[in-house]
Amino acid sequence: MREGTVLIVGGGGREHALAIGLANSESVSEIHVAPGNAGTSGIGTNHPIPASDIHGVTKLAVEIEADLVVIGPEAPLVAGLADDLRSIGIPCFGPGANGAMIEGSKQHAKKIMRKLGIPTAESVMVRDENRVMGVLDSMGPPWVIKRDGLAAGKGVTVTSDIEEAEYAASSAIKKDESVLIESFLEGEEASLLVLMDESDFAVLPASQDHKRLNDGDNGPNTGGMGAYAPAPVAEISVIKRAISSIIAPMHEYFSKEESPYRGCLYVGLMIRDGLPSVVEFNARLGDPETQVTIPLIESDLGLLLLSVAEGKLGEFDLKISDNYAATVVLASEGYPHNPAKGREISGLEGTQFDKGAIIHHAGTKLSNGKIISSGGRVLSATGIDESLSEAIEAAYGAISKINLEGGHFRQDIGSRALDRLQSSPKSED
Ligand code: AMP
Ligand code: GLY
Repeated sequence: MREGTVLIVGGGGREHALAIGLANSESVSEIHVAPGNAGTSGIGTNHPIPASDIHGVTKLAVEIEADLVVIGPEAPLVAGLADDLRSIGIPCFGPGANGAMIEGSKQHAKKIMRKLGIPTAESVMVRDENRVMGVLDSMGPPWVIKRDGLAAGKGVTVTSDIEEAEYAASSAIKKDESVLIESFLEGEEASLLVLMDESDFAVLPASQDHKRLNDGDNGPNTGGMGAYAPAPVAEISVIKRAISSIIAPMHEYFSKEESPYRGCLYVGLMIRDGLPSVVEFNARLGDPETQVTIPLIESDLGLLLLSVAEGKLGEFDLKISDNYAATVVLASEGYPHNPAKGREISGLEGTQFDKGAIIHHAGTKLSNGKIISSGGRVLSATGIDESLSEAIEAAYGAISKINLEGGHFRQDIGSRALDRLQSSPKSED
């Protein structure tokens, strides 16, 4: 692709990070986003088409003569957007509906993992509400209850309260006719974003999300309150084990499929005593993990994503920088249960690439020339520097300049990693 046109599907921080990475790519001349946010409108052209409208997005891709479509969220992938685009000859970063089932159905993912001998938590699928108590008793606390289908990050309950576990399992059966009850995995989590096509796979720097709302990993689960990369918990030996026991078998499995997997396989790991096992697979780039991963890619992002879309990753010379990145999310008042929207955001002037920090917009939109909040996670400040501590400092320096009534952010993003690096400082060279 020389001087190509790219369409990004989605409108969160992940998609803004993709837009910035693509704008910095020599190979990309035009960026379109559907639907985008206030941040992407400063880089490319936003189109008011929801990501889930797969016919609308396909029509747009044809109209703008897209050379590449990059799909951010899971819903259009599961609904077959990538298949539709490929069938009319438009290269697409993102798997077809078959491949996306790895995220679309947790039972399907478990079945594949079991077949391939991939390390993951034991699980039982329950269809009969009368069996729930028996299964919970046989597993013991804490319990992990998972709804089968896409649930926008709200499908998992982890609890040591038997009544809450039973309620979560029974209501899932009422809604979905089945539920997965899983044993609890101890350890520390990390995310691996793995670029994959039939020719090869490439593991991007490991990252760590902060899913709980409040400091110290307390409070309700959220879409992610911050992240950093590379995550020191995923030492080289852990990544090597993850490649041999998880990623290589998945690559072999997908490569035999009729329509090969071309996109990102997100591997959510639990690491205990250096041994990784799978908490979840996603069929897409993670959010906010992408915001701390893309700035570490030195290669032309447009050419990289196109090579995956065309099944030529094996020929690509991927270059990753030695830097660290950390992102801190600014959330709306009331997030995650009842986020306030429509409030003006100020203090953004000059912060876009201020002192090694990027502002990644998520729930923002333009209204009468002003930038206002339009979602729970409003934006995040991403610091990039030679050490993790400096990257974190840059992120906090940038986020503290931004004003949003009732806005709040965690104060401890990356602190666990800093403690780990302090106890073995060599890893932060
Ligand atoms: P998921 O939507 O599958 O990523 O699950 C959401 C979160 O629940 C994960 O990021 C973990 O923090 C937690 N979780 C899921 N499965 C397990 C498990 N088997 N053991 C411990 N924690 C889990
Ligand atoms: N950060 C978790 C996810 O993207 O699913």
